[in-house]
Amino acid sequence: MENVMQYIEEHKDRFLDELLEMLKIPSISADPAYKDDVMKTAMMVADLLKAAGADAVEVMPTEGHPIVYGEKILGEGLPTVLVYGHYDVQPPDPLDLWESPPFEPVIKKTKIHPDGAIFARGACDDKGQFFMHVKAFEAMIKNDALGCNIKFMIEGEEEVGSDHLGDFCRANQEKLACDVILISDTSIISNSTPSITTGLRGLSYVEVEVTGPNRDLHSGVYGGAVANPVNVLCGMIASLQDENKHITIPGFYDDVEVISTDERAEMNKAPFSLDQYKEDLAIGDIQGEKGFTTMERTSIRPTLDVNGIWGGYTGEGAKTVLPSKAFAKISMRLVPHQNSDKIAKLFADHFESIAPDSVKVKVSFHHGGEPVVTPTDTPEYRAAHLAMQETFGKAPIPKREGGSIPIVALFEEVLGVKSVLMGFGLDSDALHSPNEHYGLFNFYKGIETIPYFYHHYERLRKES
Ligand code: BES
Ligand code: ZN
Repeated sequence: MENVMQYIEEHKDRFLDELLEMLKIPSISADPAYKDDVMKTAMMVADLLKAAGADAVEVMPTEGHPIVYGEKILGEGLPTVLVYGHYDVQPPDPLDLWESPPFEPVIKKTKIHPDGAIFARGACDDKGQFFMHVKAFEAMIKNDALGCNIKFMIEGEEEVGSDHLGDFCRANQEKLACDVILISDTSIISNSTPSITTGLRGLSYVEVEVTGPNRDLHSGVYGGAVANPVNVLCGMIASLQDENKHITIPGFYDDVEVISTDERAEMNKAPFSLDQYKEDLAIGDIQGEKGFTTMERTSIRPTLDVNGIWGGYTGEGAKTVLPSKAFAKISMRLVPHQNSDKIAKLFADHFESIAPDSVKVKVSFHHGGEPVVTPTDTPEYRAAHLAMQETFGKAPIPKREGGSIPIVALFEEVLGVKSVLMGFGLDSDALHSPNEHYGLFNFYKGIETIPYFYHHYERLRKES
């Protein structure tokens, strides 16, 4: 392992330069205008994999954006690890809130990252994180220190729901066959408190359209007599949560996993400062479901949030109009045993039932994904634990997280394989927000930790 660590130390500047190059391409999967950039990024990932030493590298087309595959098969008897990551990124909007352009990466020091952090869209989510695996792989290969087979599967549609990945996995079951899936697309508690993600929430995403009069009206001539769809929509949305921030959709909580008091007490032992949380977000107070802590509200409890709402006049100045239509995008984060299709349907039935006769509503479905909990009594979890303990000098804490990676449940369903979620980002790294960044400490710590994972995994598999 010494040689591997020395190799990483000697090549760390080049590793960073390569990442910065990749961060310059706007691989925004949600916007068709960036289709070519998404493809260009896929080609670059393929080149980087080849250069690191991977064989059989392919940019594999799907109905959507391509998936980059590469592998190193060292022997039939060895355990096989499939590394999953995504090279697509979220749209950078709102652009004017970025302190430097989102696709011109710069390194700046921050309070939390005194050694510097890379500021760019995708720096943490997930280019910076999956790239740690490519570089750790290079370091292991160059030093003859890899004792497992590795397969890489880096996709380009994670940020839009991985719609084509299920079919891809079903069609390529043999190619993707593996013993475990290793993913770095999550967070640690802090740079001094490592953690391993043991659960992710699912997601149900819907869009609603509320239609009032057949055309935009003069708000003086008709206002007061005709229902305003924006007002109606706001009222309907407000009614989806009661005064205890409990979601009012009938049946919404029916399948929610009940977590024991002991387990909740254990979860709440993880270090968390409410004052720092509020300060970081510049909020006077927090809010959320009554009876649960902030940690629980963002991990083991389901939520409902409006992601966008629009209608009427939103241009410069004022226009007195009673709009014909109003829209909203609404997402619900789901916890174990809830099902994304069932929840979407419950939402639609309820939303239609509460609409007044003065408007018509239409609910359409976007993507969904199922929640997951990963086991902690497996050789792979143990390997991740030992690896982090080695490089952080501290035992990592198991922690459920609030974000979603729909492919994790799919991998379990289609390939029958569990994942290890060993991420290195911080929740405060502004994922999906302006000024996304990734600490250099985190980037290098990840590259150093990954070889230890393989080292321990190979050994523990042999023993088990
Ligand atoms: N990397 C995130 C998920 C994440 C972030 C998990 C932080 C845990 C901690 C991922 O890229 C993501 O944003 N996923 C989407 C999924 C959706 C588009 C289906 C999400 O959670 O909104
Ligand atoms: Zn991600």
